[in-house]
Amino acid sequence: MVKGVRNVEFLFEQIYQYVLRKIEQKVWNEHHKLPSIRQLAKEMNVHRLTVHKAYQLLKKNEVIYVKDKIGYYVQSNGTKQTENLENPIVSSYVRKNHLSEIHQVPVTYNFSQALIDPNLLPNHFLSDYVKKVFDLYPKVLSSYSTVQGDLELRESLTKYFINQYKKHIDATELLITSGSQQAIHIIAEAFVKAKDIILLERPSYSPAIDIFIEKGAKIISVDIHSNGYDLDQVEYLMKHYKPRLFYLNPTFHNPTGYTVPNSQRKQLVELAEKYRCLLVEDDVYHDIYFVGKPPPPIYTYDTVGTVIYVRSFCKYISPGLRIAAIICHSSLLQSLMIVKSLTDNGSPLLNQKIFLHYFSSKRMQQHLEKLRIAISIRKEIMEEKLSVTNWQWTSPNGGLNLWVRLPQHISIEKLLTKCFEHSISFVPGQICDPLKQQTSWIRLSYSYINEHQLRDGLKSFVEVVESLEE
Ligand SMILES: Cc1ncc(COP(=O)(O)O)c(C=O)c1O
Repeated sequence: MVKGVRNVEFLFEQIYQYVLRKIEQKVWNEHHKLPSIRQLAKEMNVHRLTVHKAYQLLKKNEVIYVKDKIGYYVQSNGTKQTENLENPIVSSYVRKNHLSEIHQVPVTYNFSQALIDPNLLPNHFLSDYVKKVFDLYPKVLSSYSTVQGDLELRESLTKYFINQYKKHIDATELLITSGSQQAIHIIAEAFVKAKDIILLERPSYSPAIDIFIEKGAKIISVDIHSNGYDLDQVEYLMKHYKPRLFYLNPTFHNPTGYTVPNSQRKQLVELAEKYRCLLVEDDVYHDIYFVGKPPPPIYTYDTVGTVIYVRSFCKYISPGLRIAAIICHSSLLQSLMIVKSLTDNGSPLLNQKIFLHYFSSKRMQQHLEKLRIAISIRKEIMEEKLSVTNWQWTSPNGGLNLWVRLPQHISIEKLLTKCFEHSISFVPGQICDPLKQQTSWIRLSYSYINEHQLRDGLKSFVEVVESLEE
């Protein structure tokens, strides 16, 4: 079955990484005998061929060697081989965050950051609220927030969600986090342990892939299309692999911009309930729509506590304030709060108070309305500048990204190097792919640079791609 083959291929990469990590962490030193193929296959609950394939690649890369009929051993310089791959100080325990590496390269034409141009954000208004907050709460910097988050903010968000989605929630079911990035990390810490099976969309938000791999989870991918998921595939995977959770970003999905239709949302919750799989709904782009409001969150269909809803407000109010909320059943929230307390004892109170006063103001709605128009104009500029090519994409109705397919013969690695030389950045699709195979796709964000830079940068970008086609 095609689905099965794909997943096995990815499991092989995870076994490859597992061995590398053991060597990096010096759990397995030089000439250490590796577990036999049979043993590791049993331990990891995978087919022997999968382990064999990983061992063959490790051998080819001179990380391990084989003694005929005896077994596989760590090369004398095998540790060095892995050290060469990554910084020896941090690499022992930390995998790469590919996206942040790209963001670290300073460029003029930045198509890699899924962020909003700071000139479009309400900087002026926020500074008014800073003054107001210090008047209202003179001791705001002398106090911790509670771990769960400021009660006044949680109550205000609760009212907002009830008003928007007509679903009853209580302030006790909310946890304030420092951005949705932290929320995903906390959820992974609380609910995923090594070897757990989890489902991720393909493609997916790349730091989320890195977080779950770091936890040692076995990842199985679920294709996302412009019309949502293949629910038969989802049911098959839930039934046969009994995944712990399914992390999804169903509204103006990053990187594709797709939105899972309303008709699938309720069914997804029913499947998750039936197979006891948590749904982690990451909803960062919900308010950034161009045509009409998106369908209500999947969370609104949850009746028994199957969905953990993550809603960030960072993108369109202030990425620097780092405010997001997790909403879920109180039994799940208890575990998340323990991890949150161990992480940072609660998000900064000052940030929460500034956010609270701006969020509940009339200015916020006016800002959002103008912002949607400004971002949709930038999206149109990008599409217009790319219309001279034969590249493929589906025009998104919201979000910050265009997911573009380039001609197959273009090497994305070469393209990225060349683009950096021209002060241009983008995100290679492969890092958004849990299977690391989507080699012709790239993500271009249209929201970070201004209209003038967009036109100039895209003109150069098309020329760079064309120069590689010759
Ligand atoms: C799908 C998705 N989840 C989470 C995040 C992290 O956002 P935050 O700034 O809220 O941490 C992003 C940012 O790009 C994202 O696209």
